[in-house]
Amino acid sequence: MKRKTLIAGNWKMNGLLEDGTALAKAVALEAKKRGSQGCEFLVCPPFTLLTSVKKALRGSKVGLGAQDCHVAASGAHTGDISPQMLKDLGCSYVIVGHSERRADHHETSALVCQKAESAHQAGLKVIICVGETESERDSGKTLAVCQKQIKESVPQDATAENTVIAYEPVWAIGTGKTPTVADVAEVHGAIRAEISKKFGKAVAAKMRILYGGSVKPSNAPQLLSLEDVDGGLVGGASLKAADFMGIADAVCQK
Ligand code: 13P
Repeated sequence: MKRKTLIAGNWKMNGLLEDGTALAKAVALEAKKRGSQGCEFLVCPPFTLLTSVKKALRGSKVGLGAQDCHVAASGAHTGDISPQMLKDLGCSYVIVGHSERRADHHETSALVCQKAESAHQAGLKVIICVGETESERDSGKTLAVCQKQIKESVPQDATAENTVIAYEPVWAIGTGKTPTVADVAEVHGAIRAEISKKFGKAVAAKMRILYGGSVKPSNAPQLLSLEDVDGGLVGGASLKAADFMGIADAVCQK
């Protein structure tokens, strides 16, 4: 089963108007130079840059995503952004359940599940993040933690078309540390098996599962070319167009 590789950049809380727009332009240019290489490209800037990044990406095949959304379509939720608003701005994707939101904003899997469902209803695709902490890994709970997060965070209306899973071990994010290739293969296999249990074999065979956590051009060939790894969710390295595209070059077929 051939799944289209997705290389997604999560800019997190980085970028002001000038440098954020310049980064988007550079990514668009590099993506155009290369053609699609059989890959799908996505950048997820902070809310404040969505409109200017959308403009900067015009004419390229690089998609636009956001990093979070509220459950409701509108209403009295000061400071929040609804999936409909993101769709309205031209987003096609939204990340939900990133470990930084689970930790900083106490988001539970039940809430992540609701967010994903609301995003689907607004016509957005979702990237649902799961992953264990260092102490969970050290105590041998990695698979159980990821299976539970999948069970509780992926809504019933998920399909291979509207949902992407991202496995991001919390301890590998921004640390330069990565799991071994064997560990990544094991967790991705377990996540696909969990998806299969919940949605059936056909959906599981088609749903993309990304790896995220200290991905860079030098480790991308090993980490992202595994059988059950369908691309990367890239943080730090997505803030430099050359590194972001270097990761794509390492895994997307010419
Ligand atoms: P880093 O690539 O900086 O480790 O971040 C990964 C991540 O959290 C992407 O969502």
